[in-house]
Amino acid sequence: MDHFLYRNGVLHAEDVPVPEIATAVGTPFYVYSTATLTRHFRVFDEALSGMDHLICFAVKSNSNIAVLKTLAELGAGMDVVSGGEYLRAKAAGVPGDRIVFSGVGKTRDEMRLALTGGVRQFNVESEPEMHALSEVASELGVVVPITVRVNPDVDAKTHAKIATGKSENKFGIPISKARTVYAHAAALPGLEVIGIDVHIGSQLTDLEPFRQAYTKVAELTVQLRADGHDIRRLDLGGGLGIPYERSNVAPPLPLEYGQVIRETVGHLGCEIEIEPGRLVAGNAGLLVTSVIYNKQGEGRDFLIVDAAMNDLIRPAMYDAHHDIVPVIEAEAGADLHPVDIVGPVCETGDTFARQRQLTALGEGDLVAFRSAGAYGAVMASEYNTRPLIPEVLVNGDQFAVIRERPSFDEIINRDKIPEWL
Ligand code: LLP
Repeated sequence: MDHFLYRNGVLHAEDVPVPEIATAVGTPFYVYSTATLTRHFRVFDEALSGMDHLICFAVKSNSNIAVLKTLAELGAGMDVVSGGEYLRAKAAGVPGDRIVFSGVGKTRDEMRLALTGGVRQFNVESEPEMHALSEVASELGVVVPITVRVNPDVDAKTHAKIATGKSENKFGIPISKARTVYAHAAALPGLEVIGIDVHIGSQLTDLEPFRQAYTKVAELTVQLRADGHDIRRLDLGGGLGIPYERSNVAPPLPLEYGQVIRETVGHLGCEIEIEPGRLVAGNAGLLVTSVIYNKQGEGRDFLIVDAAMNDLIRPAMYDAHHDIVPVIEAEAGADLHPVDIVGPVCETGDTFARQRQLTALGEGDLVAFRSAGAYGAVMASEYNTRPLIPEVLVNGDQFAVIRERPSFDEIINRDKIPEWL
């Protein structure tokens, strides 16, 4: 469910016609819907109702501080994986005690930053990290609450590049070694062991891997408590998938996911944290682009648009599908033609879709990529010296630019010519 619908044949973002935004900011741009972000947050909140819980939005999926503030005002916490993301959460007004620090390679500087500014907990991923964190905390005279991220060796059945819960992945500590590692953690002066963390991957479209992982976490909770640890918080990660292709079977709903949580860990009396990113932000955003050329190749036609792989890397990187629709709705019964939708970057990988059935489109026509609110703008680069594209937030009939397009001067002036040249 989202708030990007056609009205009188024109695609709208909530109550704002998309062409109006295009005129104001130029293409390409990202546009996000407050109503969709709000709805998705609430759906998770309801799914965990009756359990003591905090929904920590995975900042990596969309880190614009206006998006973070929108969610924080609804009561969201934040899951951050770098000092930069921590500072963004702070800049959005999120209090430290609602910020969870995750990530496999936190530096001592990042630890210092969060320990000074306030943090809810660190999710620790290795023994060397435990030692470093304890040292930094001791230097600062504090004791930091931690969970240890366990790797449950579960197949998340998702794209290999975004599966994290198998033993061959770099994440967490093997669950088989957890009791030893927890004993070490408990002996370190700067740490207070308070819980367990797990995250098995992203874009999961089946609940079974979650059930397996959470069942293992429940068993571990019992063992660790028997060992004398006060396990009172479970961070169950993110990962619930979204329907990228509307014509396909929809993935499970947050309510069903919440039921799995209830059934597997609900009886333990723990506070539950989850870290969804994609499900909150993915279908809350569009990437809007316009057609530069309609090029006829040999046996295939190309729609060359002004967005490229540097703006949205997902198709090139994960062979991801994004539904692509014309902003001005095609007339009912209009002929469809197969086209390859490509960007201007000088790589064959700069292909958004192959042989997609679309109605005829010409120069200047606007096209929208759906499900682009998560892992879109945050993964963009300036490859080919293409400026990062603006982000716009809509709220009812209002819209605001929440990140501006940089000028070429700003981009080029970041480079410096050494004095010998
Ligand atoms: N928590 C941790 C520790 C994570 O590593 C991630 C995502 C999440 C939460 C949020 O997962 P989500 O609910 O968004 O699935 N760039 C890729 C996705 C990478 C996901 C990385 N970790 C893509 O575009 O598909």
